Amino acid sequence: MTANATSDVHRDRAAASGAALDAVTKRWGAVRVLDGVTFEFEAGVTYVVSGRSGAGKTTLLNLLAGYVRPDGGTIRVPEQVGYLFQDDILFSGLTARENVLLRAGLHAPGGEVRSTVDHCLEAVGMTRRGDERVAVLSGGERQRVQLATVLAGTPDLVLLDEPTASLDPHTRRHVATLLAEVFAHVTCVVVSHDERLADEIGDVERLVLEDGELTHA
Ligand SMILES: Nc1ncnc2c1ncn2[C@@H]1O[C@H](COP(=O)(O)OP(=O)(O)OP(=O)(O)O)[C@@H](O)[C@H]1O
Ligand SMILES: [Mg+2]
Repeated sequence: MTANATSDVHRDRAAASGAALDAVTKRWGAVRVLDGVTFEFEAGVTYVVSGRSGAGKTTLLNLLAGYVRPDGGTIRVPEQVGYLFQDDILFSGLTARENVLLRAGLHAPGGEVRSTVDHCLEAVGMTRRGDERVAVLSGGERQRVQLATVLAGTPDLVLLDEPTASLDPHTRRHVATLLAEVFAHVTCVVVSHDERLADEIGDVERLVLEDGELTHA
């Protein structure tokens, strides 16, 4: 892929914390998703982004992840970015532990892979069911395993796309509590339609993506 002359994505080793958009523009055909957006995501803060379906919330996360290039402007993100996708991307034939191991193996130093996996499963309360195949886990349990895989990447910035969309209220509260605890000191950008999720996470900045603009709610 060649870089557009007027845009770039900077992976910043030194500023392993916050993230920033500077005059970022992104269109899909006639749809203008971001219209010259400048925004600073401060280190350690959790942002909850709402907006109607099709407003461009997933595109915003894909821009921050570097999967999509902006048409114009610059994006600064830390080097390690974790992404919990809108769709479940676990390997259902592998166990919870094996799914986390795949991610930890890419990031943790050799001798620490096993303890990293144990730590991540424990952090999401899945130690006891770690050796079950993902195929037999409930939706809420799968979502917890997904959070463990994100955690295993030791991210400085975490992107979560509708993390509670298919969960019942009880499980949603559990996942919200986990988000608040597990990623307490990490910059998080959470996309959610669900007003209650922001309340349940607690200390968050609410944003709205609408008509190409990202503003405080
Ligand atoms: N890779 C792509 N190619 C072409 N158009 C795209 C692409 N990705 C997204 N779009 C379009 O951009 C618009 C925003 O899509 P996006 O998935 O970012 O919205 P969203 O806010 O996440 O919606 P939802 O709440 O339904 O998940 C939509 O009109 C979509 O069709
Ligand atoms: Mg989306």
